[in-house]
Amino acid sequence: TQSISEIARVKNMNRLQIGKHEVDAWYFSPYPQEYAHIPILYICEFCLSYFASPFMLSRHRRRCNLLHPPGNEIYRHEDISFFELDGKRQLTWCRNLSLLSKCFLDHKTLYYDVTPFMYYVMCQRDSTGCHIIGYFSKEKESADNYNVACILTLPQHQRHGYGRLLIEFSYELSKKEGKLGSPEKPLSDLGLLGYRAYWEATIIELLLNTSDDISIDDIAQKTSITHADIMNTCTTLQLFKHYKGQHVISIPEAQQERYRKAMEKRKRRIHSECLLWKPPV
Ligand code: ACO
Ligand code: ZN
Repeated sequence: TQSISEIARVKNMNRLQIGKHEVDAWYFSPYPQEYAHIPILYICEFCLSYFASPFMLSRHRRRCNLLHPPGNEIYRHEDISFFELDGKRQLTWCRNLSLLSKCFLDHKTLYYDVTPFMYYVMCQRDSTGCHIIGYFSKEKESADNYNVACILTLPQHQRHGYGRLLIEFSYELSKKEGKLGSPEKPLSDLGLLGYRAYWEATIIELLLNTSDDISIDDIAQKTSITHADIMNTCTTLQLFKHYKGQHVISIPEAQQERYRKAMEKRKRRIHSECLLWKPPV
């Protein structure tokens, strides 16, 4: 016999249309029953409302005048903008975002209650509006000092460096708060890959740009990455060496050039001077 929760978790959505993209759902999402198992769910890319047919979506689009997420635009650099939403104030929008993102998140309990969270939504701007690329949510108060609850790049935009931007942005917020932060556990496989790549690149970049000896604590203060995440990353990369009876962190000469080249290839990054934000009080 299956428990109700197991039955409820059977994948119920097929395909989703979001703006000009069509993607397959990966996992169960608690959309209302009447939307389950239809061939394609049509989503308004600006308010994230959902419809069973293209006709109903186009009728909605004539009335829906949103061209970007509600909330405050707190970052703009070139064509990338971030909007800050409060789950309590932009309740419907954040609920719609949770439904959409649950299609691609398996291990997370979907927070039906969006009110304890802030949402940071990354968009790409063009002449037709601000198109959602991805987002992360963040608890207003985290007892565990998590700086991200859920993070997602919509599947049509994955593997283009946007996840990295989202992660970088989450640490910029932690720096402004003067706190260290880490993503909520457990991480998905993709989440772990994305975070590992970010931690490695960030620590290595800092080491390459620092001539003095540097301690774990220095790295933590400069990056807002927790001591545990730094320790893990340096261990994985085998950056700890014994030198004159001490533990030091250093990058083998032979690898430095390889890292420099890899770093030059990276296209987008967060420009902290473009972030206009104070921690909510
Ligand atoms: N295979 C191997 N490595 C990968 C993959 C993959 N499929 N995806 C990301 N990586 C690694 C790579 O090192 C990559 O760098 P590279 O492309 O230069 O090699 C690095 O992560 C960063 O990749 P991005 O393109 O910046 O990341 P992306 O935009 O694809 O977003 C994310 C990563 C957010 C984890 C995305 O895969 C996603 O949304 N997955 C579904 C939802 C999910 O699992 N979210 C995390 C849950 S855990 C949590 O919420 C705290
Ligand atoms: Zn709409």
